[in-house]
Amino acid sequence: MDKQRLIIKGGRRLEGEIALHGAKNSALPILSATVLCSSSECVINNCPRLSDVDAALRIASALGVKCRREGSTVITDASSLTSYEVPTSLMREMRSSIVFLGAILARTGRCRLSFPGGCELGPRPIDLHLSALRQMGAVINEEYGYLDCSCPKGLTGTEITLSFPSVGATENIMLAGVLAKGTTIIRNCAREPEINDLAGFLISCGGKIKGAGSDVIEIEGVKTLTGCVHRVMPDRIAAVTYLCCGAVTGGELIISGADAGHITAVTGIMKNMGCNIYSFGRDKIYITAHRRLNAPSTVRTMPYPGFPTDAQAILMALSTVSRGTGIFVENIFENRYRHVGELCRMGASIRVEGKVAIVEGTDSLCGADVMSTDLRGGAALVVAALCANGESRIGGLHHIDRGYENIEQNLRQVGADIKRI
Ligand code: EPZ
Repeated sequence: MDKQRLIIKGGRRLEGEIALHGAKNSALPILSATVLCSSSECVINNCPRLSDVDAALRIASALGVKCRREGSTVITDASSLTSYEVPTSLMREMRSSIVFLGAILARTGRCRLSFPGGCELGPRPIDLHLSALRQMGAVINEEYGYLDCSCPKGLTGTEITLSFPSVGATENIMLAGVLAKGTTIIRNCAREPEINDLAGFLISCGGKIKGAGSDVIEIEGVKTLTGCVHRVMPDRIAAVTYLCCGAVTGGELIISGADAGHITAVTGIMKNMGCNIYSFGRDKIYITAHRRLNAPSTVRTMPYPGFPTDAQAILMALSTVSRGTGIFVENIFENRYRHVGELCRMGASIRVEGKVAIVEGTDSLCGADVMSTDLRGGAALVVAALCANGESRIGGLHHIDRGYENIEQNLRQVGADIKRI
């Protein structure tokens, strides 16, 4: 897999329609949540075919959840679990598997997993997850890189205030609280649309949750959860990625299966840059960008509903060929500019000073051999290669395959000269 390359010849205008896949960052916590359902099946529609989702299915299977995929539908049955341990190899594959902790603990009273490794974005601490679960009565021993967790008397709901609206910590507390004794209140919780989608899933399973999407979530514990049928929300970051692919080639695209309301922080900036974007029908977004775009005003990444950190690299790629100077401030992750060096190899003019990146727009980029450094950094290289003069060869595709389903097929069918070898 790692020897694979995307070969992209830039300069082609993209025209046509791309159908979005379901949201990776919603499917993952929802697959963790299926562990909580002690009777009947969960039918999860619009579940994207991504390597991260496959990893989550392997973890669920290792716990004894019966999982099968039929196209974009995944069916799970967690009526009889056989383990409370997440194999180390699987924890290493995907650090967000820490979100299984709350669900396994709530369902079995035990959980053993290895500390999730850091990743390309810097150390990925889980202190907020662990302190919250301890406040709910979990006993968690950290030794030799393992977390050994138990709650012999079950978990008890309590009031938790997060020092940072962490997405993963909010999800872990929701998964722990939905079967806890009493009521759990999470203050300063994450407000991302994926939190809403997870709450919708849990409520369909019989959970009692109020306030998802606001900064206070109230969960009233119930005894058991049943399975349900749920459709995963659209992937808002994939939507931004394809919109930027259309804009950077001066093309004309329709993204279908989208929710424009989830990405207004990004499309607002793209309109100011000169893109013409509007949503129509139930779930379609239209974009054209004929003339050279202006640099974006200062882009500060923030928790939702602010500008999403996952879109920073992707919008930066678009701004490398816009007119003027763009300023990016990455406030969420410590090390999320690893794509800058690769964009500079393509002729971009970007300077990084701490958490600030200054992008001087250039007339054009030139194709080069580049390497994806992380999931969204890889997507940024695809955006840049689509407008670069000549051919680019992008490696590190395992990063891109974690979050994008059929990216080369999607782009080829709207006119890109792209192939995977
Ligand atoms: C989720 O990661 C997403 N992943 C990330 O998307 C996304 O970038 C991030 O939220 C922010 O929106 C999934 O949903 C699977 P956080 P998560 O906890 O939950 C610090 C992608 O590209 N922090 O909100 O890990 C942390 O270090 C991925 O799809 C603590 O300090 O994000 C980071 O600086 C990348 N202690 C910040 O909070 C903790 O206990 C945001 O982390 C937890 C987090």
